Amino acid sequence: MSNSVTLSSFVALVLSASSLVAAQAPPLATYPAVPLAKKGPFEYPDGIPFKVDTDTNLIRGLQKGYNICNGTTENQESLCQTSWLNSLEDFCLWAPSEPGHEVGDIEGEMIAWCSKPGHGTRLIPEGALKGVQFMKTPDYVQVVGFIDQTQINMIDGDYGGEMDPHGADSRGNPMGGIVYSDKFTGKPIQGIEWHNFMGSNQFCFKVCDPAGPNAARYCEHIFDRIGCAFNAPNNAQKDVFESCEGESQDFPGVYTGADGVVTTYKQPAESLGPITTVPYVARVPVSSNCVKHESASIYTGLPKPTVSATSSSSSASQTAGGSAGISTSRTTSAGPAQTGNPQNSNTNGGDSNNESGAERVVVFSGLAAFGVAFAALFLA
Ligand SMILES: *[C@@H]1O[C@H](CO)[C@@H](O)[C@H](O)[C@H]1NC(C)=O
Ligand SMILES: *[C@@H]1O[C@H](CO)[C@@H](O)[C@H](O)[C@H]1NC(C)=O
Repeated sequence: MSNSVTLSSFVALVLSASSLVAAQAPPLATYPAVPLAKKGPFEYPDGIPFKVDTDTNLIRGLQKGYNICNGTTENQESLCQTSWLNSLEDFCLWAPSEPGHEVGDIEGEMIAWCSKPGHGTRLIPEGALKGVQFMKTPDYVQVVGFIDQTQINMIDGDYGGEMDPHGADSRGNPMGGIVYSDKFTGKPIQGIEWHNFMGSNQFCFKVCDPAGPNAARYCEHIFDRIGCAFNAPNNAQKDVFESCEGESQDFPGVYTGADGVVTTYKQPAESLGPITTVPYVARVPVSSNCVKHESASIYTGLPKPTVSATSSSSSASQTAGGSAGISTSRTTSAGPAQTGNPQNSNTNGGDSNNESGAERVVVFSGLAAFGVAFAALFLA
């Protein structure tokens, strides 16, 4: 957990914000009484409040959408913020409600887009998913894959960011966002700890079993700058749709060196500039019982794409390069050149920088530095 780190960053945030905004509100009043990750569990469906986040007078404003989602809210204008991760066929991703904004600027307002009707959400358009691996381990469920992100209102080339139920002010990204899975007990239960990286036409979304002893560690939220390869190491491949069982990964950030020494990586502060190297390669856990499916046969009842498909060549080259890897600082340029934005200096290495609580996940070009052949390790 990163409470102290997050706290200090948030104090810094409030201090800087207070010179920009009205000075009257006492800075710490901007914390909610109850952090998002301490809310619930809300019993599905009747225990779910209309809005999980009812805080007011907070720097980031009100919850964008709502949490009671049903047939009335199931359309492409939905602002449902109750998400699901049940299976290869049935999961949701956090994405923008409208086009034109980089994820890093609106993480607090992301809404649920699902692969299947029935959750009262928007639906990921037909053909947008380009390869998905579902994984169930003793500690979590996870989907990792490839998507034409322009079909879910993301900007082409946006390196995206991380959503989780924490954030510098503990209201979560998105604020009020909650997640369910029926894979832990056979009935829908709320997964309190989760993380979802979206960007570079890729995604990884993990929901940790709330009954597991290490849910917060498997769904760690402090490594927001190093992407799917380190937070959700996997063997997802383009154009492959498969459902697997597997062992649990190492806790994000924890690795065992060749000498057997276990080390915890410390993500550098954003103020120190782009992360150009990470001293380890995350172990991809052993998977088994993978069942492959045809995408066309599993994603049904979806709307037609509304934006013309983007070229797949750019995503393919990103993928071959190892992908959703290492973030640096905020940048809008596609490619490895990164420029830090001093306005977004993050002195904590935690999961937020300014009030949008966001950082770009940027593809790392220097994979050779790992001394490892990445060609076959998509998203890894
Ligand atoms: C359906 O969801 C909407 C939006 O949350 C809510 O206002 C409405 O009461 C719900 N309807 C039912 C029957 O639960
Ligand atoms: C946070 O970052 C976004 C994106 O760079 C920027 O538009 C916004 O002004 C920043 N907010 C603060 C308070 O620095």
